Amino acid sequence: MHPMLNIAVRSARAAGKVILRAFEQVDKIEVESKGTNDLVTNVDISAELAIVETIQKSYPNHTIIGEECGLIEGKDNDYQWIIDPLDGTSNFVKGIPHFAVSIALKVKGKLDQSVIYDPIRGELFTASRGKGAQLNGFRIRVKQSKELKGAILATGFPFKHKQHTNAYLEMFKTLFGKTSDMRRAGSAALDLAYVASGRVDGYFEIGLKPWDTAAGELMVIEAGGLVTDFVGGHNHGNSGNIVASSPRLAKEILKDIRPHLGEALSK
Ligand code: IPD
Ligand code: CA
Ligand code: CA
Repeated sequence: MHPMLNIAVRSARAAGKVILRAFEQVDKIEVESKGTNDLVTNVDISAELAIVETIQKSYPNHTIIGEECGLIEGKDNDYQWIIDPLDGTSNFVKGIPHFAVSIALKVKGKLDQSVIYDPIRGELFTASRGKGAQLNGFRIRVKQSKELKGAILATGFPFKHKQHTNAYLEMFKTLFGKTSDMRRAGSAALDLAYVASGRVDGYFEIGLKPWDTAAGELMVIEAGGLVTDFVGGHNHGNSGNIVASSPRLAKEILKDIRPHLGEALSK
């Protein structure tokens, strides 16, 4: 295993421990609101701290971008860690056991290593640039679906961006009419890991942040999939509008969502 992936895994497991311990007593979790329908808990913060400490012990000069701590600029800006310590906070505070730790490393602006860890199921998804993607050490691959017929798509509702509700519902309606079913499980990182491991055929969501998608993007690409924005470009890191699936299915999804995008989502 690449030494930096090894540190990412160690960090994710440390955060997972913090999260699992707190999940045993959900009623004691301290919840605050940091934006529209956007929650943060004391556990998000302690989990992020565990990750930052683990990374900094081995790589004190690297830059870290954490959802909760923001930018910690290191002397060596070529190495950037992008962290979501707890993806699926709404599930977590409701006691729904579906959430993950998501950690990606960019080297000179390119995704290089990534980990998505589901502490409840003990599932560790990893990817290394050019080396493929794994679940608990076993190779995973994107399902090479060719059409929407028979497909199951994961998605996220735009609950933090309700201005996009109508556009989203139109997209949903068109796709739902053609697919076999949809899933809204509540963790973007796991949605992407599930695309990478062929559990779902594809995934789309509006308005995500870099820490929601960085690790999952490398995972999907290394597992033989395609990740794009809503117009088939590579602006999803900025717009947060993301489609992930086999290359063939992505074409079908993009074709069906295009008529409903409007200017705001055409990126
Ligand atoms: C959220 C989850 C959710 C997605 C949201 C994300 P958070 O992340 O990934 O599935 O629909 O848009 O912001 O806030 O739980 O880390
Ligand atoms: Ca997130
Ligand atoms: Ca989070």
